[in-house]
Amino acid sequence: ASSAKFFVGGNWKCNGTHASVEKLVADLNAGEVPSDIDVVVAPPFIYIDWVRANIKSAYKVAAQNCWSKPDGAYTGEISAEMLKDAGVPWVVTGHSERRLLLGESSGTVGLKTAHALDVGLSVIACIGETLEQRNAGNLYTTIDLQLQPLFENVKDWSRVVLAYEPVWAIGTGVVATPAQAQEVHAYVRKALTDRLGKTAAQSIRVIYGGSVTDANCNELATQEDIDGFLVGGASLKGEAFVRICNARA
Ligand code: G3P
Repeated sequence: ASSAKFFVGGNWKCNGTHASVEKLVADLNAGEVPSDIDVVVAPPFIYIDWVRANIKSAYKVAAQNCWSKPDGAYTGEISAEMLKDAGVPWVVTGHSERRLLLGESSGTVGLKTAHALDVGLSVIACIGETLEQRNAGNLYTTIDLQLQPLFENVKDWSRVVLAYEPVWAIGTGVVATPAQAQEVHAYVRKALTDRLGKTAAQSIRVIYGGSVTDANCNELATQEDIDGFLVGGASLKGEAFVRICNARA
C-alpha cells in the first residue's frame, strides 16, 4: 500500500438548507472518526463559515470551487484569497460537474489548482473519464490530458489530493469495482512516480469517488492504491459518512 494518510472528503454539492446543515453537523459531531486520518467536508459556499464554526475539529472544511486569479472584477466568483482569509483550508478543483456542466477545461483546472496552492490552500483536484471516453478506449488518454496541466502548473504536490471520479459512477449507484478503481489508481500512481519520484508519489493521496457508500467502502479501502474517498450522496447522511471514515478502522 502507499504510505499516504487515509483521507475522506464529503462533497455536499449544491444541497442543503440551514436546517439540514445544522442536523448534518450535529450528526457528524456525534460520530467518532479515527484521529489518524484526514476528514474534510465541502458545504456550499454560503454555509461554509457556519459549518467551520460549529463542526468539531476532527473535520476540516473545504470549498467546492474557487476562482483562478486574485480578487478583481469577476462577478459571482470567490477567490482562493478569500477562502484563506475566511479560514477555509481546503478547496476542490476540477470536479466533473464543473467540467461538464460549466465547461471548465483541464487548463483552467491546472491554473486554478496552482493558484489555490500558491495562496496556501490544500487542494482536492478531481479527474475522471466519462462512459463514452472509457468505451471508446480513451480512458488513459483522458486521464493523461487531465493530469498534464496539473503537472505543468503545480509546484508543491504535498498539499494536493487527487480524486479519481469516473463520471459514470457519480450519483448513479454504479460504483467502480475495487479492481476497476485500483487499475486506474495504479496508473495515476505510476504517472506521479514518473514525474515526481517514488517517495513523493507514495505520499500523495489518490482517492476514489463515485457512488461510495458505507456498504461498499470497506473493500475499496483495502486496495493498494486507494488512499481514501470523495463521497457525494452518502456524505449528506451523517451516520453513513462516519462509517465511511471508519472504512479502514
Ligand atoms: O465529489 C463526489 C462525487 O462526485 C461522488 O458523488 O453521489 O456518487 O458519491 P456520489
